[in-house]
Amino acid sequence: MANPPATTQQRPFGATMRRDAWWAQPLLVFTGLSAFIVYSTWAAFQGAHYHSGPYLSPFYSPELFGDSPHSWFGPKPGWWPAWLPFSPALLILWAPAGFRMTCYYYRGAYYKAFWADPVACTVGEPRKSYLGENSFPLIMQNVHRYFMYLALIFLSLLAHDVWKALWFADGFGIGVGTIVLSVNVVMLSGYSFGCHSLRHLIGGFLDEPSKAPLCEKAWHCVGCFNRRHMMWAWMSLFSVMFSDLYVRLCSMGIWTDWRLI
Ligand code: FES
Repeated sequence: MANPPATTQQRPFGATMRRDAWWAQPLLVFTGLSAFIVYSTWAAFQGAHYHSGPYLSPFYSPELFGDSPHSWFGPKPGWWPAWLPFSPALLILWAPAGFRMTCYYYRGAYYKAFWADPVACTVGEPRKSYLGENSFPLIMQNVHRYFMYLALIFLSLLAHDVWKALWFADGFGIGVGTIVLSVNVVMLSGYSFGCHSLRHLIGGFLDEPSKAPLCEKAWHCVGCFNRRHMMWAWMSLFSVMFSDLYVRLCSMGIWTDWRLI
């Protein structure tokens, strides 16, 4: 027999006995995620200034179709709808976006910050029942593990972009852009390697990893990153945004990429 929806404490929205700044964290999350969504959407629709020298913006990698030298299959395909502005980012960004949107940390953060569910512990909510993630659309959050597989592929491709960022027109070199793209891959690795689904996978899908010593070791290894998953989530969010901005401003001639070697 199906359980009735759980009821939450009947307290007016925002009412609490807490004296601390409980609203600060949801407000910061709301501001940070909103800034990222606005910037990344704008950048994804530009379809220009996403590469500079050997650098390719992570928002556009892999570039399946496009005009840059990084394109895998040539320029804009003929089947692209005429009403939709062409941008290589639109072909691929759904995968990393899906990975972040379904992340266990971000779910908790944006449920609180964007629809106050709950806005903070022991603070009144705007609704009277709790439905959890048992029904559509939130049950779709369970696809996270499949986005995780895709994210690992994207991570390998971004690492390959760092390799390509070492090769300029006149040969091997290191520019500030090479460092920016490298730091971004480190941040994204720290975030992805701490994924709860990856920990379950690498622990051998076991509910009790201690019964398989090798799996337990791997489980603890992922646990190192997992303990600071929130920190990695934010650092990688800003690093990926800054990497796009860096490549974009270099491509537009507003910033000059310094060659260190
Ligand atoms: Fe956050 Fe998987 S739980 S990336």
